[in-house]
Amino acid sequence: MKTIVLANAKGGTGKTTCAVNLSACLALHHGKRVLGIDLDPQGNFGISFGVDPRQLTHTAYHLLTAESPDVRSYVKEIKPNLHLIPNAIAPDLENRLEASHNRDSLLRLRLRALKGSYDYVVIDTPPAMRTATMNAIVAADEVIVVVDCGFYALYGLTDLMRQIARVSDAYEKDDIVIRGLLNMFNRGQNLDRDVKTEVGEFFGGLMIQTIIHKNVKIAEAASASQPIIEFEPTAPGAFDFLKLSKELLSEYEPETQKRSATRAK
Ligand SMILES: Nc1ncnc2c1ncn2[C@@H]1O[C@H](COP(=O)(O)OP(=O)(O)O)[C@@H](O)[C@H]1O
Ligand SMILES: [Mg+2]
Repeated sequence: MKTIVLANAKGGTGKTTCAVNLSACLALHHGKRVLGIDLDPQGNFGISFGVDPRQLTHTAYHLLTAESPDVRSYVKEIKPNLHLIPNAIAPDLENRLEASHNRDSLLRLRLRALKGSYDYVVIDTPPAMRTATMNAIVAADEVIVVVDCGFYALYGLTDLMRQIARVSDAYEKDDIVIRGLLNMFNRGQNLDRDVKTEVGEFFGGLMIQTIIHKNVKIAEAASASQPIIEFEPTAPGAFDFLKLSKELLSEYEPETQKRSATRAK
């Protein structure tokens, strides 16, 4: 079970979009057993799959703040292979979480009960380095920092990296991988090309090779509560997210990926 976290202290960079579409590609295209977890109280991860946050009695916040919860009762089946622990705004629970004992490691503890049930856990985080995001990092094998192409693309990244380093020190997470993913890239824009160079320099060798281009179909798919590979499988955005999932799988599971490539020939 590999836990991938999408993070950036800046809002609107595409964290949720990447969480939705990466988990859909892994589950629906590659047949992996995927659990999505929405740690953002805005609830957009669930909304993007048609879950209405107002109807929820079992959210990720409830899971973290409950005493000895039965984790499986928080999991919603979205599609075969694709399960989700959704979230919703609940300021009282947010405050309770901030005041909890062991508050940063609650998610890691809860996920132990699901070990072996999923191949991948994909976690969406809010645009702030608070307790919810800390929980995600403590539980993470890999943090993907989603960077949008625009002004201030690098804003806050040094702080974010420092926080991740602090958590990985405190919890002895020597193997945690932190990488950058460029989103909303527009080849024709000088600014985007500059941002690409700057972000590449910031992350050094740790950039994900696949770039997610700006594609209006990605936003339309979200409004239609569908991942892009279902909403419009031939759109450039669907191609980008499939490419991203293949790049990640070729690293996580080099042997299976090689076998399926041979079979496809
Ligand atoms: N590659 C893309 N092309 C076009 N629109 C995108 C792309 N990525 C994200 N968006 C849109 O940008 C907005 C912000 O994305 P979102 O995933 O909600 O960001 P975050 O979760 O980081 O706040 C959303 O309206 C989303 O549909
Ligand atoms: Mg979001």
